[in-house]
Amino acid sequence: MSRPEKNTTTLRHHILITGASSGIGAALAEYYARPGVHLTLWGRSEERLEKTATAARTKGASVDTLSIDLTQAEVALKELIKADDKLAVDILILSAGMADIRPHNALAESADTALKMSMVNFATPVAMATEMANRMAARRHGRIGIMGSVASFHDLPLATVYSGSKAGLGRFSTALQAAMTPYNVRVCLIAPGFIDTPMSQRLDGEQAFLVPVEKAARKIARSINSGRSVLVFPWVFQLTRLLEMALPRPIAHRILRRLDVMQHPEGEGGA
Ligand SMILES: NC(=O)c1ccc[n+]([C@@H]2O[C@H](COP(=O)([O-])OP(=O)(O)OC[C@H]3O[C@@H](n4cnc5c(N)ncnc54)[C@H](OP(=O)(O)O)[C@@H]3O)[C@@H](O)[C@H]2O)c1
Repeated sequence: MSRPEKNTTTLRHHILITGASSGIGAALAEYYARPGVHLTLWGRSEERLEKTATAARTKGASVDTLSIDLTQAEVALKELIKADDKLAVDILILSAGMADIRPHNALAESADTALKMSMVNFATPVAMATEMANRMAARRHGRIGIMGSVASFHDLPLATVYSGSKAGLGRFSTALQAAMTPYNVRVCLIAPGFIDTPMSQRLDGEQAFLVPVEKAARKIARSINSGRSVLVFPWVFQLTRLLEMALPRPIAHRILRRLDVMQHPEGEGGA
C-alpha cells in the first residue's frame, strides 16, 4: 500500500482467505501481508495462488496455500479445522465465488450451474463461517468477512442463481452477526457493485461505477477490522436497491427483463 495505515492486525496473526488466487481475495492477501501475519490462502489454481503467496512473502508475511474446490463442502470444513487447530484463525475472509449469467437464448441457467454455484456461493461459505464462528466465540475473539454482492438486492432474470445465492448469503451473514456480537466475534457482510477483477472483466459492456480492486480491498479490510456489520459500495447501489423496493414488482421485473449482458467463458477477458 502506498499510504501507511493504522495497523489493526497486530493482534490478529492468522488470516485465512478463500478466493485468494484472483481478484479481491488476492488484493486482500496483499493488503494484509506484513511481518507477524500468517496468511492461509485458498483457491483452485495453484499457479495463481503461488503468485499471490510470493507477493505476500515479499512483504514479510508467512504463507500457506491450499488448492481446493469449494463445491466439496466437507473437504473444505476438514481443511478449515486443520488450519485453525494449527494456528487459531483471527480473521476469516470468504471471498471465493462464481458468477454466471444464463447462456444466450436460454431462459435460465442450467441445473448443473445452479448446483455448483449454490455450493461455492452459499453452502460451503455458510458451513465454514458457522464452524469458525463457534470456534471464535469460544475464544471470545474473531472477525469474519463474507462477500455478498449488490446483485442480491435485485431480482435479476439473467442471473437468478447468482442473485439468489448472494441474497441467501447476505441474510445468513447479518443473522450470524446478530448471534455472535455478544461473544466479540464480528461478522461483516460486504456487498460491492462492480470491482475491476477477472470476474467483472468477463462481462460485455460498460460497468457503472467500476472500482479498482486495490481500492476495494482497502475498503473491505478496514470494514472487517473495525467490526462493521455491512459494507455496501459504491453508495449509489443503496439507491438502486431502494428504487427496486419502491416499484411495484411487475414493473420492476419488466425493467429488469430488459437487461441484456453477455459473459465470456472463464479464462477469456471481457471487452
Ligand atoms: N468483481 C465484482 O465486480 C464483484 C462484485 C460483487 C461481488 N463480487 C464477489 O466478490 C468475490 C470475489 O470475486 P472476484 O471479483 O475477486 O472474482 P475472481 O477474480 O473471478 O475470483 C474468484 C475467486 O474465487 C475462486 N473460486 C471460484 N470458484 C471456486 C471453486 N469452485 N472452488 C474454490 N475457489 C473458487 C477463484 O479461484 P480460481 O481462480 O483459482 O479458480 C478465485 O480465487 C466473489 O464472491 C464475487 O461474487 C465481485
